[in-house]
Amino acid sequence: MVLGSYHRFYPAAGTPAAGAGETVLLRDGCNRPVSYLRVSVTDRCNLRCRYCVAGELFDFIPCAGILRYEEIVRVVRALAPVGIDKVRLTGGEPLVRRGLPRLVAMLRQIDGIRDVGLTTNGVLFAECGRELRDAGLTRVNISLDTLRRDRFAELTRRDFFSRAMAGIDAAVELGFDPVKINVVAMRGVNDDELVDFVRFGRDRGVEVRFIEYMPVGQGTGWQEASFISAAEIRDRLAAACGPLEPAPPEFSGGPARIWRVTDGGVRIGFISALSDHFCDRCNRVRITADGRLRPCLLEDTEYDLRGLLRAPGVTDAAIRELFFQGLASKPAGHGMSCNAPRKCQRPMSSIGG
Ligand code: 5AD
Repeated sequence: MVLGSYHRFYPAAGTPAAGAGETVLLRDGCNRPVSYLRVSVTDRCNLRCRYCVAGELFDFIPCAGILRYEEIVRVVRALAPVGIDKVRLTGGEPLVRRGLPRLVAMLRQIDGIRDVGLTTNGVLFAECGRELRDAGLTRVNISLDTLRRDRFAELTRRDFFSRAMAGIDAAVELGFDPVKINVVAMRGVNDDELVDFVRFGRDRGVEVRFIEYMPVGQGTGWQEASFISAAEIRDRLAAACGPLEPAPPEFSGGPARIWRVTDGGVRIGFISALSDHFCDRCNRVRITADGRLRPCLLEDTEYDLRGLLRAPGVTDAAIRELFFQGLASKPAGHGMSCNAPRKCQRPMSSIGG
């Protein structure tokens, strides 16, 4: 069914290839299929996490520079026929943008889009979770880096711990399954809570995923000393909870490697972006809040999707073509490790993870 990269075969995307009776699907230059689009809908956030932004104020993207919902829908509509079937809305904090359920509903109406997920800090989720679910939201990941209220306030510069917890409870009650909790593990910051998080996952029926702390953006204090590898986290958990064993991978083939505690069966995810790259399995492409097509999370190479969308008379084929071109240059691997030079200056708040 799949015909390979843009360079070799490129009839009008999404239409039967001449003579072959087959459809061209989106693939990158390394021939990896691309079926998953992550869209940052805003760079604004109601938290100021110290590892994400340097201070209270940062250079917000002017409103006019942020993609409108109709523009996002247009892109997804153009890409669904070439194999994008899953969309995730990120930020900043996506729930601070007004009318998000409307976007979810519009995306779910597009033929071929079977999955619309959200990555949120949970602070506003108790208020709008139901509306989002009713609009067709299928998945929720909630970022939470500590289970202690005072530490939450210190880390995020906001005293919203109870609201974030209420958001997690709401997600579970609304029936999202699994609710995934993203924990960025940082030495000297929250690494005394690793076991608490495993217990929390078990008690609340949520799937905890430890994410390796990545050097992204500027002035956010990343240093090698704060980094903890997934292997070290596993060793520390095993010492406290008993042996861990690898569990079958997620059905969705995402980047998390799942392990479980042998005694008790709790599933724990590990996203080892630095110590054990999963680039060979990367199936995703990103759109930043200001409408740049970004092939790789950790590389600043971007393409001006917004400019294209706002040009007069742009066709769906031209939108697809920009993706085929951008993805042709997607690196085989990000090459980032603890001591490699940074290739990512753009802040996470406009990429969305
Ligand atoms: N390293 C690792 N994860 C990060 N996130 C944000 N910044 C970083 C970083 N520097 C996480 C958020 C969220 C996910 C989208 O990315 O906490 O869970």
